[in-house]
Parts: sequence; structure tokens; C-alpha cells
Amino acid sequence: MNSSDILEILNKDELAKEDLLLLLSCYDKDERELIFEKSKAKKKHHVGDKIYLRGLIEYSNVCAKNCLYCGIRAHNHQIQRYTLTVEDVLQSAQYAYENRYASLVIQSGEVSNPHFVDTITDLLNKIHRLTNHQLRVTLSCGEQSLETYQKWHDAGAHRYLLRIESSDKSLFKSIHPQNKTHDFDIRLKALHDLKKAGYQVGSGIMIGLPGQTLEHLVNDLWFLKEFDIDMVGMGPYVEHIDTPIFERRHELISQQKRYQLSLTMMALLRILMKDINIASTTALDAIHPTGRIEALNIASNVLMPNLTPVKYLENYHLYNNKPDTFHADSLVQHIEKNATIHGSRIALGEQGDSAHYWRRKT
Ligand code: 5AD
Ligand code: SF4
Repeated sequence: MNSSDILEILNKDELAKEDLLLLLSCYDKDERELIFEKSKAKKKHHVGDKIYLRGLIEYSNVCAKNCLYCGIRAHNHQIQRYTLTVEDVLQSAQYAYENRYASLVIQSGEVSNPHFVDTITDLLNKIHRLTNHQLRVTLSCGEQSLETYQKWHDAGAHRYLLRIESSDKSLFKSIHPQNKTHDFDIRLKALHDLKKAGYQVGSGIMIGLPGQTLEHLVNDLWFLKEFDIDMVGMGPYVEHIDTPIFERRHELISQQKRYQLSLTMMALLRILMKDINIASTTALDAIHPTGRIEALNIASNVLMPNLTPVKYLENYHLYNNKPDTFHADSLVQHIEKNATIHGSRIALGEQGDSAHYWRRKT
């Protein structure tokens, strides 16, 4: 496409699926630059120049599931399983509080027994007491019952992340085992339940999965828009050697292409959904040295420095080459320095709710 065709599409009030497909097919540097410029302008206008911090606590790598792509799947016996102690979690929460992150994410493998449910409830209560109810807490603990979601919401979790992984039912099937615990419709129901329970709901997908086409990705963007999601975490699929899907690595597009596609997807989502929160995901840094910084410059407005105690980090590898060498402090400094060059800044002390959520609520 030539520049004027691209600009004509970008200047439409509403983009149709065909438009998204054309834009997503742009690989040329100058073509993609036009998309990025549009995304930057939308970002500036609708969410401003702030980057919100969320301290990430990888609470436990114990998981009952066996997603074919994930390094902490139950059947991977190459890793040591861990669960943080209450003290570990509270120390990280204290760090986030003292360093004015204003927000925490507690992520774990998927477990849904009553003990786990009560433990998370208890942690939420303790975190809020310790930090004078000043921290917004996001949970990312997989599919749970509506009752559990409500219980955690009552205990002070106001945001929840649950990726759909792929909005295409057959692609979803192809990256999960064929059984009731890995069911697309149950995942979808869980997302609806999260909305019902009153959360700011985050979802997302992986980009560059084996068997994934540009049409799938356009439908993913459409899904996120139709579901009216408040927050998004999406990033490239990254190989993990101890997973079944690694066998299909010859089908993958290169990491460089996955990286480019991820940035274009994030930019298109910003253009489509304007005021949502978009996280700059860690997986970007696994395949490109400046991945997270680029995403923040182009489309995203949320950074999640890892506050998991160092001794556990090596066991929370969802994919290979996960960058965990950056301590939270130095990551924040590094991002701050680079973001300033591009006109954004880290918003310390601000919880950074999704503007989209509040607009949807009013
Ligand atoms: N590559 C990229 N992302 C992955 N996730 C799990 N495994 C991988 C991988 N190999 C993502 C999934 C999940 C989130 C916790 O991590 O999207 O929802
Ligand atoms: Fe468990 Fe989530 Fe990994 Fe699936 S993606 S195996 S649910 S941690």
C-alpha cells in the first residue's frame, strides 16, 4: 500500500475488519511508522503521557493446568514448584507501597481449591491493612467460580487479568489439551463473570502462535473491542523447550516478525479502543532488547516491574529467555530515562485505573 492509502484508512472514524487486516499486513518500516504515529496521537489524547506502575508478584508456580505452550504447566517436571510465604508477599507489597507504585498484581498458576481461595482472600486483607488501603490490587489467578471472584472482589481486588489467549475457538483448542479443564466456553464465561462481579477486566492474547493467521489476529482485536475490555496484556508467543508445542517450532514466524506484529497489534488496539490500559508485557523484552520501551512509546501505558523475591524468579518461566535480571529499581530507572526522551513519564503514587472502565460505568 502507498502512504496515502494507509493514511486514508487511519483517518476513518471507525475501522472495519478489512481495514485492520490491511493495516496488520503492513511490514514496511515507513508504513508501520504511520500506524505508530496515529497510535501515539490517540494515546496522548485519551490517556495522556503517564506510565502507571504495577508491582508484579508471581505468587506461585503451582498450576493444575497443562496449556501446551506454558513452561509452568503441571506436567513440566523440570521446574521446582514454589509458593511464596505470607511474609514474602507482604514484603513485596511494602516495597511497592514505599516506592509509590500505588498498585500490585498478584499472579499465579491456576488452582481453585478452597484452601487457595481462602489464602488469596487472606493475603488481600493483610495487604490492604499493611498499606492503609492505598494500593490497587489486581489478581491474575485464572478461571474461578463467580462466587470466588465475588469473594476476592469483596476482599479488595478490583482488577482481574484473564487472557483469552486466542478468541478463535479452534486455535484455542489447538494450543490446549482436549478436556473440560481447558475449555474455550468456560474461559469466556469466566470473563463474563468477572464483569458481573464488578472488576476492571483485563484480557489478551498471544501473538505469533503456530497456526495463527492475520485474520485470527484481526478477530482477536475485534473480540477485545466487542467484549469492551478495560485493560489488555498481550505479547508475542515465546518458545519454551519443555512444552509440547515446542515440537511445532518450525511452523513459527521469526521472533523478529512476532515482535513487529506485536507492536502493530498494540498500536491498532490503541487506535480501536483509545482509553483502555495497555500493559507493556515482559514477553516483548524476551525477544527484543528494547521491546517494552518501544511498546510504551507507541501504545502502552502500564509497566509491571517484577517484585517477586529473587530466589523464586528462575522457577516462574512461562517461556525461555524471560528477562528477570533487571531488578525492579533499575528497570524503573531505565524506563524513566528512555520514556522521558519520548515524552512520557512514570506516574508515581497514582493507581491508574482504566479510564475506559470509569467511562463504561457512567
Ligand atoms: N509465550 C508467551 N506468553 C505465554 N504465556 C504463557 N506461556 C507463554 C509463552 N510460551 C502467557 C499466557 C498466560 C500468561 C500468564 O502468560 O498468555 O495467560
Ligand atoms: Fe497454568 Fe496459566 Fe500456564 Fe496455563 S498459562 S499452564 S493456566 S500458568
